[in-house]
Amino acid sequence: MESTQLTIQLAYVAAAALFIYGLKLLGSADSARKGNLLSSVGMLLAIVAALLDQGIVEYQWILLGFVVGGAIGAAAARLVQMTAMPEMVALFNGFGGMASLLVGAAALSGSSNTFTLVTIVLSILIGGLTFTGSLVAWGKLSETLGSGAVMFRGQQIVNSLIVLAILFSAVMFCLQPENSIWLYAVIALSLLFGVMAVIPIGGADMPVVISLLNSYSGLAACAAGFAVNNNILIVAGSLVGASGIILTQIMCKAMNRSLSNVLFSGFGSVSSEETVIEGEIKPISVEDAYYILEAATNVAIIPGYGMAVAQAQHVVKELTQLLEKKGAEVNFGIHPVAGRMPGHMNVLLAEADVPYDQLLEMDDINPRMETVDVAIVIGANDVVNPAAREVESSPIYGMPVINVDQARTVFVLKRSMASGFAGIENPLFYKENTRMLFGDAKESISGLIRELSN
Ligand code: TAP
Repeated sequence: MESTQLTIQLAYVAAAALFIYGLKLLGSADSARKGNLLSSVGMLLAIVAALLDQGIVEYQWILLGFVVGGAIGAAAARLVQMTAMPEMVALFNGFGGMASLLVGAAALSGSSNTFTLVTIVLSILIGGLTFTGSLVAWGKLSETLGSGAVMFRGQQIVNSLIVLAILFSAVMFCLQPENSIWLYAVIALSLLFGVMAVIPIGGADMPVVISLLNSYSGLAACAAGFAVNNNILIVAGSLVGASGIILTQIMCKAMNRSLSNVLFSGFGSVSSEETVIEGEIKPISVEDAYYILEAATNVAIIPGYGMAVAQAQHVVKELTQLLEKKGAEVNFGIHPVAGRMPGHMNVLLAEADVPYDQLLEMDDINPRMETVDVAIVIGANDVVNPAAREVESSPIYGMPVINVDQARTVFVLKRSMASGFAGIENPLFYKENTRMLFGDAKESISGLIRELSN
């Protein structure tokens, strides 16, 4: 092996090692930044080595792409609001898919043995459906499109026909690569299938879809890696694909659903009208909430998407410190699908320096809930909805939730009686021991802080 090739292969090995070590560090919030940095260095190394490997002699277009892409990435990183991160991640997955589609299509101009053709068609197919599927996920997360499931009669038959048409075109493409009609058919059908596969999934099921699309973007990259015969792309794609699948499994487990059930049952399409709710709403003022809170010795805080909207994490931390100073034990209950992206609450609370050992997972906090004096629900709704346990007709029936209703008193901090992402009513708000502290979460907590510091 000549020395440049050896250097390139060594750089690939180093990049792969950095990816794997970076992923390991991403597993815990305190080392995640370092993990991100190491993986980025690995990616830079991989790109430089891949460019040398391909024997590219003209760099002007690559440089242009690098500058334009880098500028967009840097601007997005600075300008995108923390609350819009989930949508941005969905877009990143989508563009990853589109990149694989383009790489696959471009690889067609090279050699065309059957194996390469199969990998080309796979990168186009998976990349295409990841692209449009992610755009729909982006629309649902940003609520540009409604978050609910879109269902119509005969949908499963239509989808099955599209899958058959994709398979047929893919086989024809491999048999007649010179006839570009099959290539265009695979591209068009996979783009269509991405939309059709994601529209019937709505409401509380979106976490599974997002992790699955993340995994698909990796699989598409892996197939593109085979198509252009690039080892590091295969390695990077497999890592994304595998970690996405693990995340998908974690999300399914968190929601107590099987993957096929999520993908094919149109969950979230059932509306709330079957839920008959008894009891009445009992609003509470900040002052009255303070009197109850002051006497509490055991407090549980359950954050949700509303904490991200209100950007309340820093005042939440301050409230925690004040309560602890007054002798109360304070823990956080973190639901795996709280917020709009995996680990959303952990990221926000880490940003506010809340100690990790104070963050309890759902399975750890639930058994303690009966000993909690006050459970403070901060902008969470679906993840604390007792209908999941009590109302068999509810679309979220069977999904594990944080059982805040079992605490002695529950404060729910939200602005109105609006429902959460799943679009269903929450009987928690009507329970005997629940008090609604209406208003923006940051303002309500700041009010409590003022009272507690007097
Ligand atoms: P949600 O059920 O979406 O409820 C959030 C609540 O926050 C809303 O009811 C809203 O009520 C309140 N809120 C919004 N802004 C607020 C503010 N400034 N101050 C106070 N409250 C505010 O949130 P959740 O309990 O975290 O559940 C997450 C949902 O999203 C689940 O259905 C989950 O399946 C879905 N989802 C999750 C993910 C991941 S991976 N985590 C991804 C996609 C979808 P008001 O408008 O009345 O204030």
